Amino acid sequence: AIEGQILNQLAISKDSSFNTYEFASNLPPDYGVSHENIVGTSKSLAGDGYVIMKSSKIDYWELTDEGRTVLREGSQEAKCFKAIKASGEGGLDRKDLEEAVGKGAAKVGMGNCMKNKWIAKEGDKMKAKATDIEDIVQIQLSKLSGCANPEDNGAVLPGKDASLLKKRKLVVGKSRTSYDVTRGPEYAEERVKKAADLTKEMIDSGAWETTKFKAYNFKTVGEKVGGGYLHPLLKVRAEFRKILCQMGFEEMPTNKWVESSFWNFDTLFQPQSHPARDAHDTFFIKDPAQTVSVPKDYYSRVVKMHEEGGSGSIGYRYNFKPSDARKNLLRTHTTAVSSQMLYKLANQEGGFQPRRYFSIDRVFRNESMDATHLCEFHQVEGLVADYNLSLGDLIGTIETFFKKIGITQLRFKPAFNPYTEPSMEIFGYHPDLKKWTEIGNSGMFRPEMLAPMGLPPNVRVIAWGLSLERPTMIKYRIKNIRDLFGHKVELARTKTAPVCRFD
Ligand code: PHE
Repeated sequence: AIEGQILNQLAISKDSSFNTYEFASNLPPDYGVSHENIVGTSKSLAGDGYVIMKSSKIDYWELTDEGRTVLREGSQEAKCFKAIKASGEGGLDRKDLEEAVGKGAAKVGMGNCMKNKWIAKEGDKMKAKATDIEDIVQIQLSKLSGCANPEDNGAVLPGKDASLLKKRKLVVGKSRTSYDVTRGPEYAEERVKKAADLTKEMIDSGAWETTKFKAYNFKTVGEKVGGGYLHPLLKVRAEFRKILCQMGFEEMPTNKWVESSFWNFDTLFQPQSHPARDAHDTFFIKDPAQTVSVPKDYYSRVVKMHEEGGSGSIGYRYNFKPSDARKNLLRTHTTAVSSQMLYKLANQEGGFQPRRYFSIDRVFRNESMDATHLCEFHQVEGLVADYNLSLGDLIGTIETFFKKIGITQLRFKPAFNPYTEPSMEIFGYHPDLKKWTEIGNSGMFRPEMLAPMGLPPNVRVIAWGLSLERPTMIKYRIKNIRDLFGHKVELARTKTAPVCRFD
């Protein structure tokens, strides 16, 4: 309907043009069409060449709240003059005046009364000099607001007067943009909808010959192409990786989820009766259920260590079951890879060399799931293999690493792992939660683990591990693990997650 009215206006108006603002002001107020509506529809018509629009900006004055008060009650100087005049021959001192017209009005009005020579000071009394006055400011404001169209009052007052009113904060400058609309090259009294696409039907019927098509808009912004986004866990992993590389650690190849029980448990001197090796805690693989090959000599040394001991240990004194060692499983910790790397390090050409290794990858546990536990998570693991390392080296390395990820207060608590002695749980003070929380596990690998590998007896290996999920949830303030990992994760959250930095 607006569209038709605009095209009609260009047909009937004598110079075939109109101004959008005037057009909108002339519509009945209950018509429900605003200036914006007229501009919007005109722009759409301009897009198809029906009309041409030229913008023009107009400045005008709007009364402030104070301006409206002055318009109603008169200016401060008029109020002061009236009060002083009413006091007759006696005059008023400042305090009397403030009482009569208010502090604010007295402050502004007194000076202006003097400037206008409406009053004069005798001692500390102010006395009226003029017989009658004209409240110029009030008159000016009423000219501005009394204009037939207040948004056209820009030229009603000389610029000098208007800027004085502005200085007194009685008015503020505003501007509005309107458009002069004239006929365009495609002008017609009725708009014909142009086709956006050529269709098979148009070709079949021959209608394409007479159909009007929309021009291509090569300037339009194309549809957004959704890109890939990094999951928060990957962002934190990238940062941890950077930190560990800076500390001289090399990444271990952890890209294999299925391991044998041999590497996951036996090489780590974890007894075959250990509860962690139960199906309740470990996901065993059905097909293939058994691993086919393990290093033969090393295997027999591991068996011997379990059954009889050695290197000062008495072993577990049970019969080692080869079938248990061959059971395939989803690795329960990345330490399964650490043991393979240490075995390789001991048996590489040229013999053992000191090394620092790390890995950050996925592990699996057959656990019941809750807000903080899933059946799979990511472990960050680090180890240093060198001659004559001590527990002090372990504490120092752990402190350096955690400091770099923003955890400066650490405590260590004696703990037990089948493959480390001594073992320490790592606690960190959480400044947000204001409490100590367990953040990792660590220890020195036992001789029962290292000796069968063939490492020289004075080589010590210090190691620690933590989950990647815990620091990520803290960093991104995620409370429930399901909001971080799994099918319930909101994609928008991943898309908008900020980059991760620890510094
Ligand atoms: N493997 C241990 C775990 O799964 C972590 C750890 C790694 C502990 C290295 C000590 C040394 O919790």
